[in-house]
Formats: sequence, C-alpha cells, structure tokens
Amino acid sequence: MCSNSLLPLSLCDHHSFGASDHNPHYGLYTGMKKRLVSEYDTVNMQLATLHRKPPEPSAIMGRKALQAMWRDKSPLAALRVFHAELGDCFRVNAPGFTPVMLVGPEAARFVLVTSRADLRWRKETDPITRLLQHGLLVEDGDMHDQLRQTLTPALHKRVLSNYVDAMIRGVDEVTAGWTGEAPRDLLPEMRKIALLIIFEALFKHDFAPDLATLWPAVLRLLSYISPGLWMLWHSMPRPGYANRIRQMDDYLGHLITSYRAQHKDDVSDMLGMLIASGLSDSVIRDQLLTMLIAGHDTTTASLAWTLYLLGAHPDALARARAEVDAVVGRDVPRLEHAGQLKYLDQVIKESLRLYPPAHLSARTALADLDFDGYRIPAGTRVLLSIYLTQRDPHHWPDPDRFDPERFSPENSAARAAYTYLPFGGGPRNCIGFAFAELELRLVLARLLQRYDFALALQPAGVRVHMGATLEPRPGIRCLTSPRRVSETSDAPPALS
Ligand code: HEM
Repeated sequence: MCSNSLLPLSLCDHHSFGASDHNPHYGLYTGMKKRLVSEYDTVNMQLATLHRKPPEPSAIMGRKALQAMWRDKSPLAALRVFHAELGDCFRVNAPGFTPVMLVGPEAARFVLVTSRADLRWRKETDPITRLLQHGLLVEDGDMHDQLRQTLTPALHKRVLSNYVDAMIRGVDEVTAGWTGEAPRDLLPEMRKIALLIIFEALFKHDFAPDLATLWPAVLRLLSYISPGLWMLWHSMPRPGYANRIRQMDDYLGHLITSYRAQHKDDVSDMLGMLIASGLSDSVIRDQLLTMLIAGHDTTTASLAWTLYLLGAHPDALARARAEVDAVVGRDVPRLEHAGQLKYLDQVIKESLRLYPPAHLSARTALADLDFDGYRIPAGTRVLLSIYLTQRDPHHWPDPDRFDPERFSPENSAARAAYTYLPFGGGPRNCIGFAFAELELRLVLARLLQRYDFALALQPAGVRVHMGATLEPRPGIRCLTSPRRVSETSDAPPALS
C-alpha cells in the first residue's frame, strides 16, 4: 500500500505503469488509471468517513466559546459557537464531560426514531433516575411501553375538557394574591399556577393549602436534577436533599392512601387510573413525581418566557390581548375558546422555539452507531440539542428574532419535519403535549383577560439559565395591574 492512502502501490502516481509516449497502450492505460483512481478515491473517502470521529473544539474555539459564555452568561452560548464551527455532530471536550452533541432534523430523526432502540434513556447514576426511580421519563424497553400505555388515556385529547376548570382555578387562586403596586416576579407565580393545576387535574387534589409548606421541597428537587458540578465529579456528595425528597415522598404516599379511601373505583383522572391498573404504591409514587416534575416545571418556564416576550414586544401583546377580548370577552375561558386563539398560539409556539424548556434529549448509545459518517461508540452519552436545532439559521432565518408570524398557517405549511421539536418526537415524545398546549393557552388567556402587564426590567438583562429546564434569570419582574372594566365594552368582570 502507498503510505499516504489506501490505494495499492501500482495505482499511485509515483508507481505509475510505465508511462511513455513510446508505449502503444499509453492512452488506454491512462484512461483506465484515471477511472480506477477516481473509484479508489471514492472508496477511500467512504472508508475514512466511516471511521471519522466527531470533531472536537480546538483551543481557539474554546476561547471563543468562553467569550460567548461570558457575554451571554450561559453555557448555551458556547454550544452555539461549537455548532457554528463544527456542524451538526461534535464532541464536547470538557474535563469529565464528553458527550456527543447532535443538532438538526436528521439528528433528531436518528435519535428519536431510527436508532431509538440503540439509545437508552435511563442512566442509573443520574440524579433524575435516582429521584424518579421507575417513572415513565426514565424507563426504557417494555417497562416504559407498559407505563406509557397505562398513562396515555389520562392525557389524551379526548379527556382534556375534564381539566379546563382546574386550569382556570389555578390562575384565579394565585392571582387572588396579586395585591399591591410593587412589581412581582412572574417565574414563581407561574410555578404556583402550574403546580396547582397538575395536582388538581391529574390527582384530584387541592394543593393550595400545602403549597407554602412544600415549596422549598419542590425547589430542592429541581435543583437536585439540574446540571451542576456532579456532572464532572460523578461521586460528588450531595447532602441536603434527602430530607426534602422524603418530605415529598411522605406527601405523595399520603395522597395515594387518601385517594384510595375517598375515590374508590374512580378512573376519571391519572391517579385513579394508576390505582386501578394494580401497580404497587411505590411505582405509582414514581409516576406521580414524574408528572409533577415533568408536567409543571416545563409549563412554568414556558409561561414565564411567553409573558417576558409579550412584555418585550408591545405590538404582539396588544394583538394577543385583542384576540382574547374578541374570542373570550367576559366569559371564563373554555375549551372551545382555546381552539380559536390562533395568534396567541403562534406566540406560544414562537416562545417554545426560542426557549424550549426541555432543551435536550439525552440518551446513551447501547451499540456502536454511525451518524452521518461519524462513529459513535457504545457507551457514549448522546445529546440531541432541541435549542440549537430551533435556532439553526439554516432552518430559521434570523433565528434570534421573536416573530410569531413564523407560525402562521402559510409559513408553517412548508416547514421541514423535525426542525421544530419543543415536545420531542417519535414514540417517546412528550406524553403531556396536548395537556400543555391547552394549559398554556387557557392560563395566558385568563391572565391577559384580567391583567395589564408591564416589564419592570430591561429585556436585554434577562438571560437563559440551564436549570432542570431553561429558565429566565434573574426572573421576570413585572407590574401587574387589573384591567379596568371600562377599557372595552367586553372587558372581563372582576373576580368574585
Ligand atoms: C411546555 C410544556 C412541555 C414541554 C416543552 C415538554 C417537553 C418534553 C420533551 C421535549 C420530552 C421528550 C424528552 C426526550 O426526548 O428525552 C418530554 C417528555 C415527557 N413529558 Fe413533557 N413537556 C411539557 C409538558 C408536559 C406535561 C404537562 C406533562 C405531564 C402532564 C409532561 C410529561 C412528560 C413525560 C412523562 C415525558 C416522558 C415521556 C416518555 O418518555 O414516554 N410534559 N416532554
């Protein structure tokens, strides 16, 4: 073999076959040679490609990434630098943290559909697996599929009308405390609303009396599963969490026992369905905690980001509010209103594009895999970036600009699949997708119907924090004032 390629010696230029003007077969030889060389080149390239490792950031890129992180105060800025420089498949080379990062529609199809069986979700050492144990989110294989079958009917489109009252009550309960003139941070306020909704809708439980007592536990659980030093130092001691996890476990245990006593044979909500399915209390606890975490933290972030974007774009706020006034008027928002709030839906979709609360689909390769010619060895942590996919300038012109018109019917029609995936995709997509869509529309409609919002911070001062979800930091400080009844003839009534 020639030392600098996979070509046999005889086909290399410096070992040519007797090229000479006197050779009668010279023309034939050179023609054959050219063809063979080009075929071998193709094979060479293919072989080399098959064994390519995903590229890693160079030292210069590392410096650029650090500058971007410093500017934006977020590690997402570093990932954007790497994506722009290295393409849709690259390896992060931080000490102790070396996942392969995948971006774009092809990568999404690869992770979520075609190679799904070779990519497992569960990682025993991850805090989220320790916390949720056998919860749907962290299970794989048959156990996952069985749980999904049991839980799906409680979140199916058919039953969503059952949850509308709980959604409106959640808003009214929390906003009843919005007295005084001072600005309030909408992030915790949206968390309170989302928690009340998930408990009442899915477990028939009024969480309001216990909200203050369990608030520190909820925040502690979220910080336990958020990215942190434990990702680099795997055996890092993490004291201070066990008590809060126990407090939540006791609470959920009590909830299961009292549900059994009070709602015998009731299968009209998720907890009732879980009890009827004969699962053990410990596996039921895992599903309740999964729904509680996955089903409230995401909607909290999404509501807060959407209100931030509306606050920063007064035209969009005015248009969304005019739509709510025209569609809902003085009524309490209902299921049929939600379907008519087309512009509000575009705003929500654009907010989920810019700030997807679940910004990564994280998996581990079970076998050696090949993505786009890159070799991903078994055992590699594979991270599909929803955030980078939805901010990719190849698919989203001027990607950082807030523009709800991207989701108008005309502009949505030609969109390529898997370029927009805030709820994931494939058989393991978000089970609460329809629930969340309804919740976001109804909560925002109720808020816009009843309140004026004015940001009490500089929009540019808000940065993206990578917690359990993507959260706005330092929060969304906002003035909230009840709308005056005289504002429009259809203005909503004051709350009784
Ligand atoms: C704006 C709101 C929400 C967003 C953006 C969101 C996003 C996502 C995404 C991206 C996934 C897939 C993750 C992956 O591929 O690894 C997912 C899965 C999941 N979501 Fe959501 N979600 C939302 C609301 C909800 C709600 C309301 C619930 C429950 C009521 C919920 C429960 C779950 C569960 C249990 C899974 C795991 C499903 C499975 O593995 O089969 N989510 N969500």
